[in-house]
Amino acid sequence: MYGEVVPAAAFVNRVVELDRLVADLAAGQKVFLISPRRYGKSSLIRHALAAMSRRGAITVETTVSSFSSYVAFLEGYARASIAAETRLDRARTWLRDMIRSARAEIRYVPDTTPLGALTVSFPNARSDRDVSRLAQEVFALPARLAEARRRKVVVALDEFQAIAGFNGGSVEHAMRAAVQHQRDVGYVFAGSEPSLMERMLGSRRPFYKAGPVMRLERIPSEEFAAFIDARFAASGLRPEPGLGAAIVELAGNLPYDVQRLAHETWDDIRAGGRRRANLDDLHQALRRLLSEQHMMFEALWQRLTLAQRSVLRAVVLDEGREILSADVRTRHRLGGPSTVQAALAALVRDDVISRERDRYLVVDSLLREWVARRTF
Ligand SMILES: Nc1ncnc2c1ncn2[C@@H]1O[C@H](COP(=O)(O)OP(=O)(O)OP(=O)(O)O)[C@@H](O)[C@H]1O
Ligand SMILES: [Mg+2]
Repeated sequence: MYGEVVPAAAFVNRVVELDRLVADLAAGQKVFLISPRRYGKSSLIRHALAAMSRRGAITVETTVSSFSSYVAFLEGYARASIAAETRLDRARTWLRDMIRSARAEIRYVPDTTPLGALTVSFPNARSDRDVSRLAQEVFALPARLAEARRRKVVVALDEFQAIAGFNGGSVEHAMRAAVQHQRDVGYVFAGSEPSLMERMLGSRRPFYKAGPVMRLERIPSEEFAAFIDARFAASGLRPEPGLGAAIVELAGNLPYDVQRLAHETWDDIRAGGRRRANLDDLHQALRRLLSEQHMMFEALWQRLTLAQRSVLRAVVLDEGREILSADVRTRHRLGGPSTVQAALAALVRDDVISRERDRYLVVDSLLREWVARRTF
């Protein structure tokens, strides 16, 4: 499905990026992977980790933004570090040997997933001092694991920008201090808020020059279009020439949106028992998706101020260019530059639009179409 990390067959391009990431990780580098939302970072990481694991490395993966506190993150990270161990008793002994500053409790409740029910908790880590001592030990785990198993270890910390929310700057210091000496451990720190990530790499911050920076770009649209056409064909449907290109364009060439639109169009055609895939099918699928999302978009629209609504419309109708110019402001009755600036900033903050080089884009291509068709 398009919402999940893509399986190998659905993974297009990214050959150069994948090779480079794998080579850097194998060399024990600390790589920073940066792109706006939904460009395909997590998918790329998954593929790189799979490649490393085929080469015999132990892989550790965690999404920093999914934790509600620093201790919860440390617990999740410790859990991910022992996930490669299949025997609970061994995992428990090892972790207790490694973590001296706090009590480590490991529980296992059987369920359908191999490790889904394994939990690690540090119930007596309370004061800031306890927590920072514990953090040192937890951040050392990947290197200890590499030593104990005599294997390379690769760690992926996804949505890494969220680290700034825990304990202020001290987490960055602790993490940097821990990883810089871990020669047998490759790290990839991935972040989807480019401005936050770039700031984290600034000259006054702990991660300055910690390792190579990869900025993930969009997949070239012709390649993505050809890939979509080929996927239709491979499933036995004949795509009208230009269908892939139209999907990529309507989806703003955002991998997630491309896959969603392609998948939904494909679904409708299959459900209708047809063998050909036309532009009409695409537009019908789009209309269906827009009406399914209507309530959600309506609610979003209601939450915006009037200034934000007109700025959003201007971004949609003028394709995000020159929004601050006198011409655009007059044509769309946007008011003065500072009003427009404030509205743009609010929309960016709420992840409704994003800035790309010299223009603004609506993040969700369905929302863009909805605004164009349903608002005035
Ligand atoms: N190389 C690719 N080929 C085909 N589809 C892709 C590719 N990369 C990503 N996608 C599609 O885009 C979706 C989003 O990708 P992914 O979750 O990896 O992006 P992300 O950058 O991690 O996003 P976020 O910032 O929201 O975490 C995937 O579920 C998949 O459908
Ligand atoms: Mg992701």
